[in-house]
Amino acid sequence: MRERVGIIGVGAMGEALLKGLLPVVSKEMLVVADKAAEKLAKLKTAYQVESQTVSGLVQKAQVIFLAVKPQDLTALLQEMASNLTPSKTIVSVAAGVAIAKIEKELPENVGVIRVMPNTPCLINEGVMAVSAGRHVSADRLELVVSWLQNLGVVRVVPEELLDAVTGLSGSGPAYVYMMIEALADGGVLAGLPRQMALEFAVQTVLGAAKMVQETGEHPAVLREMVTSPGGTTAAGLLHLEQGAFRSLLQKAVTAAAKRSKELGG
Ligand SMILES: NC(=O)c1ccc[n+]([C@@H]2O[C@H](COP(=O)([O-])OP(=O)(O)OC[C@H]3O[C@@H](n4cnc5c(N)ncnc54)[C@H](OP(=O)(O)O)[C@@H]3O)[C@@H](O)[C@H]2O)c1
Repeated sequence: MRERVGIIGVGAMGEALLKGLLPVVSKEMLVVADKAAEKLAKLKTAYQVESQTVSGLVQKAQVIFLAVKPQDLTALLQEMASNLTPSKTIVSVAAGVAIAKIEKELPENVGVIRVMPNTPCLINEGVMAVSAGRHVSADRLELVVSWLQNLGVVRVVPEELLDAVTGLSGSGPAYVYMMIEALADGGVLAGLPRQMALEFAVQTVLGAAKMVQETGEHPAVLREMVTSPGGTTAAGLLHLEQGAFRSLLQKAVTAAAKRSKELGG
């Protein structure tokens, strides 16, 4: 039997999940629920998917994605609990909410998968770390991972690593946005028109990331390849080293990971 898939909470992340899942789970197998009726009407027109009440969705779907804000999760789980059976799997994308905390609100043996996505999932270039609770079968986990691969890179990790994941790939896009902004400002300072400086900064970051990905070379090797003796790049790199660029980024990741742990309680 093919699994019916539900998404509860179709905001930014819920809609990204819907778009990402549509090509792999046909629209007839998808069902969505949200508080706002007008949002559901729009989704129905845009994606031709069935919309339901929360209890209607829970009865129909085998795998249920929860994409509500962390502070709305407990109330939602309590609303769903009476209709859940162990054949169903909950997939939560709520940042910082532990599997044990979700399981506590549910009937015995309902499987829980936790996903830590990042915003580039909205354009199918995301990073998703996935952890499974003790009641999730290997088959169900494999199925969910295969669907999520449509939104980016997916890796299964032990739950205790999710704070580190939050510090790196969860918060990481913001570090890169800041870097792009600063590179463009540098270009303007050196005399480029602002629009061109921003375009070149974006393409430089994109191109460098693709070079690492596509050549499989260590970034240090690629960096050496563009650093000729006495050249321009060596002069630029010296400033980054003096400003402790590397340790700054390492500290940003570990500070965000620490904060994630604190917020998760
Ligand atoms: N956005 C990201 O890039 C990102 C990245 C990583 C993780 N996440 C996680 O993804 C989750 C969703 O984030 P988001 O930014 O997509 O939030 P969002 O845009 O606020 O979407 C959440 C949606 O769920 C609805 N909702 C809340 N309670 C509900 C209920 N009981 N039943 C049905 N629908 C309900 C909300 O309706 P109302 O607005 O009417 O309350 C809203 O439409 C969060 O837990 C967040 O931690 C998001």
